Amino acid sequence: MTTSALTNPVPAAAAKEIARRRTFAIISHPDAGKTTLTEKLLLYGGAIGLAGSVTSKKEQRSTSSDWMAMEKERGISVSSTVLQFEYNGHCVNLLDTPGHHDFSEDTYRVLSAVDAAVMVIDAGKGIEAQTLKLFEVCRRRGVPIFVFINKMDRPSRPPLELMDELEDVLKLAPAPVNWPLGDGPRFKGVFDRQKGEVNLFERTSHGAFKAPLEVAGIEDDKVREALSDELHETVVQEVEMLDELTEPLDLERVLAGEQMPIYFGSAMNNFGVQNMLESFLEMAPPPAGRVSNEEMIAPNTDSFSGFVFKIQANMNPRHRDRAVFVRIVSGIFERDMQVVDQRTGKKVRLASAQKLFGQDRETLDTAYAGDILALVGNYDFLIGDTLTSDPKVTYNEMPRFTPECFTYILNNDTSNIKRYRAGMEQLMKEGVAQAYQVHNSAQAVPLLGAVGPLQFEVLQARLLSEYQVETRQEPPSWTVVQWFEEKEPQKGRSDRDPPQVLLPSGSVVARDQDGQWVVLLPAKYLVKSLHERNEHLVFR
Ligand code: G4P
Repeated sequence: MTTSALTNPVPAAAAKEIARRRTFAIISHPDAGKTTLTEKLLLYGGAIGLAGSVTSKKEQRSTSSDWMAMEKERGISVSSTVLQFEYNGHCVNLLDTPGHHDFSEDTYRVLSAVDAAVMVIDAGKGIEAQTLKLFEVCRRRGVPIFVFINKMDRPSRPPLELMDELEDVLKLAPAPVNWPLGDGPRFKGVFDRQKGEVNLFERTSHGAFKAPLEVAGIEDDKVREALSDELHETVVQEVEMLDELTEPLDLERVLAGEQMPIYFGSAMNNFGVQNMLESFLEMAPPPAGRVSNEEMIAPNTDSFSGFVFKIQANMNPRHRDRAVFVRIVSGIFERDMQVVDQRTGKKVRLASAQKLFGQDRETLDTAYAGDILALVGNYDFLIGDTLTSDPKVTYNEMPRFTPECFTYILNNDTSNIKRYRAGMEQLMKEGVAQAYQVHNSAQAVPLLGAVGPLQFEVLQARLLSEYQVETRQEPPSWTVVQWFEEKEPQKGRSDRDPPQVLLPSGSVVARDQDGQWVVLLPAKYLVKSLHERNEHLVFR
């Protein structure tokens, strides 16, 4: 890969704008505190006046996923996708990752648009299944990780044990930026290892206000009064031990994804949130470029480029609109600019980019590399599309995941057929699931594939709430998909006919939504036989 020589950089003022952007996501296992932390960051960012007003989890319990619940509430979390706020001279873009209980493709897509991630961990639980999956995605993408160990006001696991677990499981060097003084009812604050001072914790009512911060030295009377002698001794020993056992915080290693800064606190009580935000913004990287045809496109390249990472229909149920979210990789966006969609080759005028905040919208006139555009209107873009003013640039940021679940989603009432079709078409464009057409099948509706079964539930819930269409699932007998190509294309075969394949019993040939041929098999153990019988094919 080469790095493009920056022959045409953006003007200096724009380069400054790009350099001050920080685009990141918060990731966590459900219930670790992602929503609460998001609210508190917005509180500090001045974006909302009173934290705690965004969502109430208790009312959402009855629904089967955060996504549906939030969708129902139409709270900030879902409809915004990206929240932008200013803090200490930085322009912060905070992206919402879907709160699904199981991993889905949308999560991966959102993470393709960020430059850093804050991973929230419940101090009482440590690393949980979803945290690990999300972490793996970040690692694969080389996204630096900052860890916030939350809920220190509740009985937690010993901090040294949490540290060991993080290191063992994630295989990154831990660099605790601060260290907790006790936990649960005995939680008294944190020791800031860099400044060598104690931040004493004061409980506020459900963290509704910015927490007052009292700073003192570890040997100060105030600290000694707050801590029992035993706790004071433990903390002093632990801090000394950390100095010996952990490597000092090294920004280069953090950005290279080798070391993770760790912060302790309590999002609900606003404790440690501001310190984490400030330290994070100091260390988090400015917008990174993306690779196009083996060349790294620098963010401050003059020509505009970006890729579509998310599409959401019916943001506002009263206006059937569609928002297309684009991560700007390089250059400057200006309202009404014309770009090319590299997939279709069509020129498109970007007339209606908006800044979204919950239900509020504002027209966006200018945006820079690192920012997220929300294009609202009738754009014919698909997930993964590159929009650019430089025809040489194409990004390939959106790999397709191999589905592990398949189903048909069938319409319960044929008098709704138009709405069913419109809904399916729209939601497929959003990439809610993958569609396959089985060759010569009598079934008119496409077979759907997804990484997790919850994607189907989301699809059904949305068909019902947004299109008033009731559906049912009908599982097919296939559970495995294999993509294939001919080693040597068969002469004279029409594009509509599949290549010759010797199929194991119960298997069929189908096409994915891009027109690629696949084999669907009823069981994993048949894959070997499929490969052995078809040496003239290459399987991916
Ligand atoms: P999520 O988005 O990661 O799923 O988690 P969320 O922020 O919704 O938090 C899950 C639960 O944990 C919420 O409680 C929230 O109030 C609580 N929580 C978050 N941070 C802290 C913290 O620092 N300390 C303590 N003690 N609790 C915390 P809930 O009862 O489910 O909802 P709610 O009625 O409080 O909103």
